[in-house]
Amino acid sequence: MIENAPLRLGAAEVELCSIGEAEVLMSFPESLKGWLSAGEERTLAGLKTPKRKRDWLAARVAAKRVVGRRLQALGRPLAPADIHIDSHDTREPFVSDEDGDPDESLPISLAHAGDFGACALGAPGDRVGMDLERIEPRDPSWRELMADDSELEPDVLQSSEALTRLWTAKEAVLKLLGVGLSVDLRGVMPRADGGVQLAGGALDRWNSYGAKPIALHYTRYQDCCLTVALSRR
Ligand SMILES: CC(C)(COP(=O)(O)OP(=O)(O)OC[C@H]1O[C@@H](n2cnc3c(N)ncnc32)[C@H](O)[C@@H]1OP(=O)(O)O)[C@@H](O)C(=O)NCCC(=O)NCCS
Repeated sequence: MIENAPLRLGAAEVELCSIGEAEVLMSFPESLKGWLSAGEERTLAGLKTPKRKRDWLAARVAAKRVVGRRLQALGRPLAPADIHIDSHDTREPFVSDEDGDPDESLPISLAHAGDFGACALGAPGDRVGMDLERIEPRDPSWRELMADDSELEPDVLQSSEALTRLWTAKEAVLKLLGVGLSVDLRGVMPRADGGVQLAGGALDRWNSYGAKPIALHYTRYQDCCLTVALSRR
């Protein structure tokens, strides 16, 4: 297994795992046991399609690597199979503590796109959201779903990378807020200064979380845009 150093975006560390690595692991069930708890193995077995299994596993391997490195640095080393990545009913992921509750000192967000699964790990007490999307031309209806005309300056409209970056910023914020696409993406408007303006359901959730400033951090990773949103809890 190849281990890369994590990317740093703001106070977050981001780890990626290639889909190819996940495929190799799945073809050797014995080596999977080194990565997954019994419960996680059952979850993987219950996933319906090979693609969903690969994506799910790649994100978990990335998560266990970056969380494992943090725990090691804190003098609390744990084997990957003993680091439990769980999900709320909303699908928002969390690292669970010994009681199965979210460990707020290890805030994570997951994504899969293109050839990768990824995990962002925030500083203790952060809220974190991360999105990864492959840069590619998309149907105009997709643009209308995510943004009003006022957000789509000509230079953004003409660039698949700029549009993809905007999309990842919006999804990263919705993941930070724990709401996913249940609220309108057009209510998340990234600002040029790295902050974000909110409206509608996103604003309601942000207010219920104490309205702490959200900072966006962008990078490009191979053929993907990767964006992390961070705020204090
Ligand atoms: C979050 C969401 C926007 C991501 O969609 P996507 O671009 O297809 O997928 P990504 O690879 O970027 O991210 C998937 C990861 O987001 C995370 N995620 C899902 N729902 C989340 C939520 N409510 N809050 C935070 N993170 C969430 C999960 O970790 C998921 O990976 P996993 O299922 O392997 O654990 C989408 O899954 C969603 O909206 N989920 C909520 C369900 C919902 O509201 N459905 C209504 C659809 S109109």
